[in-house]
Amino acid sequence: MTKKDFITGMEFSAKQLQEIIDLAISFKKGKVPQHAERIITLFFANPSLRTRLSFESGMKKMQGKVNVLSGNDTWNFEYREGAVMNADKQEHIKEAAQVISKYTDLLAIRKSELITTKSDQSDSNWNELKKDEAIATLAKYATVPVINMESNMFHPCQALADIMTMIEQFKSIKNKKYVLTWAPHPKPLPLATPHSQLLMPAMFGMDVTLAHPPSFNLDEDVIKLAKAQAKESGGSLQITQDQEKALKNADVVMAKSWASLKYFGDWQKETKHRNKFKNWIIDNEKMSLTNEAIFMHCLPVRRNVVVSDEVLDSGKSIIIQEAENRMWAQMALMHYLLTLKS
Ligand code: CP
Repeated sequence: MTKKDFITGMEFSAKQLQEIIDLAISFKKGKVPQHAERIITLFFANPSLRTRLSFESGMKKMQGKVNVLSGNDTWNFEYREGAVMNADKQEHIKEAAQVISKYTDLLAIRKSELITTKSDQSDSNWNELKKDEAIATLAKYATVPVINMESNMFHPCQALADIMTMIEQFKSIKNKKYVLTWAPHPKPLPLATPHSQLLMPAMFGMDVTLAHPPSFNLDEDVIKLAKAQAKESGGSLQITQDQEKALKNADVVMAKSWASLKYFGDWQKETKHRNKFKNWIIDNEKMSLTNEAIFMHCLPVRRNVVVSDEVLDSGKSIIIQEAENRMWAQMALMHYLLTLKS
């Protein structure tokens, strides 16, 4: 089997991603392939509902097998190359990646320093975290394809399901107005999901508008990549701090909260700044500015903080379809990776 990883999503061209989505749509219609005796190992260093169950159920629907490991089940892995392992890390990912590859056909990992159920984030340095050293080192030494189930920088499985959901809705999504809007939240949240939710629509030629309050810029490297992708695909990318202007004539409203990189690590200041923008909640009044847009969110969502009940429970909200499509899109991704020819 050829080893191809799915870490940023950009290891694949838009054409290949479209092929995966076409497969996902056909699986959803009942044409599910069989992968009996193929095994995926899912390693979760952080909590999950959708990602875990959608991978597990998806592989089982294809008659495949699933191993699930949580951070508590394994040795404490060291991910840094050249580390002197004289403290609390018992096993280097260099060995672990090669060993797990002998037991499994696919290896998926969720490891983000920013996903936490705690009320505060730990001290962290964005320039270090954005290197995504853990998944990079795992992928370097694994001999089977590695799938990113959310790292510090990217959540491409979420974005793949989002694109599938929009294609189901509109058939062609090229030049549809897609607004990714920052939304309020009591906690500083990771940037991986909005990064991927910016990049993949740009790859698919959507007219993307990113709206956020001051000091909530996404990572500058991701913005550069999204601009390049939009140029290549014939889409566009606008960035604004005016949410109402952004929402005008939108076909899709994708709401998401994320932490401020300006105040990253100084969580007291970050929270004080974030709390100034509670009026960025998506409600019916905001949705009325749009072109009868569909409402999307990756979930979990804080009701009446990120988005009002009236929007979330309206006919325009396709959040459950979006979550369901995590399973179909990942089944197609697993099938694609398992059947790649060299
Ligand atoms: N959207 C998403 O990744 O959900 P989980 O964190 O529950 O997996």
